[in-house]
Amino acid sequence: FSILDFQRDLVDWYKMNQRDLPWRADQDPYKVWVSEIMLQQTRVDTVIPYFNRFLGLFPTLEALAEADEEKVLKAWEGLGYYSRVRNLQTAVKAVAEQYGGRVPDTPDEISKLKGVGPYTAGAILSIAYGVPEPAVDGNVMRVLSRILLIEEDIGKPKTRTLFEKAVRELISKEDPSSFNQALMELGALICTPKSPACLICPVHDHCRAFEQGRQRELPVKEKK
Ligand code: ADE
Repeated sequence: FSILDFQRDLVDWYKMNQRDLPWRADQDPYKVWVSEIMLQQTRVDTVIPYFNRFLGLFPTLEALAEADEEKVLKAWEGLGYYSRVRNLQTAVKAVAEQYGGRVPDTPDEISKLKGVGPYTAGAILSIAYGVPEPAVDGNVMRVLSRILLIEEDIGKPKTRTLFEKAVRELISKEDPSSFNQALMELGALICTPKSPACLICPVHDHCRAFEQGRQRELPVKEKK
């Protein structure tokens, strides 16, 4: 397993095949933040129109910090999990007041913000600032459990730490943004839960599960 070959094959594929999603138009940390919060419990196709409308109403971090809560909740209507947007507005106000409106660019500072857990922190840091931090969600655990043949139960809270460690070793230091988004994109388009498209996968040469024909057994998720 060559890390450099893996990074190259993954990132080259991403650059050629990435979907044209509205939050990929620029690297504004505020837009990346909004998109990642929306995408936590909601599918990409559903999020797209909400994201565009939300950014139309609250185009900047300052605009969201100053907006009436009612108007913000209204813009979220239909997405559900309203604590997500309440926490987002609380956190955005803290950034406006304590950081002069600039989203922090270190793991320690960004993780203090309400609603910003390890996944969201890593996604914003890598995508908006190019910091080589892991952004591990369920999709990324599925992809990496296959590539690295990790048989740990992904339902256990401790398992995510294991995957974060793996990403720290694998992540491209040159382009952490593309690397993390490539893992997400691979999970969405190729390395899907039910029948992964291994034959057209750009990294099948690096995949231990594919090598052993065990991709359908992974990830391991014990029922509760
Ligand atoms: N799911 C979570 N974050 C995503 C992103 N940035 N792009 C596409 N799908 C995602």
